[in-house]
Amino acid sequence: MKTYFIFACVVALTVAGVCQAGVLRKNFYSNSCPSAEAIVKNITQTLVASDPGLPADLLRMHFHDCFVRGCDGSVLITSTANNIAEKDSIPNLSLEGFDVIDEIKTELESKCAGKVSCADILALAARDAVSFQFQKPMWEVLTGRRDGKVSLASEVLANIPSPFFNFSTLLKGFQSKGLTVHDLVVLSGAHTIGHGNCILFSNRLYNFTGKGDQDPSLDPTYAAFLKTKCKSLSDTTTTVGMDPDSSTNFDASYYVNLKHKKGLFQSDAALLTNRISNKIVGELQKSTDFFKEFAQSMKRMGAIGVLTGNSGEIRKTCGVINS
Ligand code: HEM
Repeated sequence: MKTYFIFACVVALTVAGVCQAGVLRKNFYSNSCPSAEAIVKNITQTLVASDPGLPADLLRMHFHDCFVRGCDGSVLITSTANNIAEKDSIPNLSLEGFDVIDEIKTELESKCAGKVSCADILALAARDAVSFQFQKPMWEVLTGRRDGKVSLASEVLANIPSPFFNFSTLLKGFQSKGLTVHDLVVLSGAHTIGHGNCILFSNRLYNFTGKGDQDPSLDPTYAAFLKTKCKSLSDTTTTVGMDPDSSTNFDASYYVNLKHKKGLFQSDAALLTNRISNKIVGELQKSTDFFKEFAQSMKRMGAIGVLTGNSGEIRKTCGVINS
């Protein structure tokens, strides 16, 4: 019976490009829009060439998409008079790169209208942006995601981990998405690129326990450096590179820094507070090892709660649910 279903599904896939079983696959668009992946890659990498911060923007946006209602492009939706969308929730206010997804979508709609989902565009663009530095794909992105029809700001805080979380809360959040402690440590390595706002860690510099003190788990020299950037507890405008000196370089230095007590957020430092995750941090110090593990964990993250087959829709505009 099971064999028959899989066979029927493969036939359905081939004939109609649709399968109810709900799995992502390689080259989902090979018939419906053969140039889809090349278009995403070309536009993304052209833009990354003149904006080295874009890989971080898109990688974080893909993460924030997947952790709220699965990787369904819900993070891309614009609020309306009747609905405050995810995009307008506090953790998402600093997301950037929406214009890039829109530009890719416009091109794809002109080449093959109504075929390529915004959720897939985001997953592919995040991969292609990070991969630009290496001139080869850093992880495989399976496709066939469809776009969700719901996006609620009220669901974001409960799903996107806070930089103030301790280890057990972080792990619970990842486990609730079907991810493991290994995925938690590996995916946190994304903080090898990008920036963090002072307000999200300055308590560690100026007022850790309410007594004007510093977080003892933060390297004092690094803390002194951070204080030269974030001048006070109430600095809400300054950002600093999360990986000192290499915040546009995707590498394993996040883990090397972390071991030296130079993780920026409490949530980074928290990875050293558990025996198992601390051991994993130790195992990811070499870029080749990190890249291999990151590729696998990204594949798992990219499959969280996906809509496939006839679920959801293919949005015409990534910011707007089809009417
Ligand atoms: C483990 C739990 C995580 C926490 C608590 C966390 C928290 C944060 C925070 C607070 C920022 C800075 C935002 C700002 O200053 O506005 C940030 C940035 C970033 N996060 Fe995470 N994050 C986590 C996991 C992840 C994961 C799994 C990924 C991707 C796979 C990721 C990718 C990024 C990137 C690339 C940036 C830099 C964004 C930019 O510069 O545009 N993070 N994260």
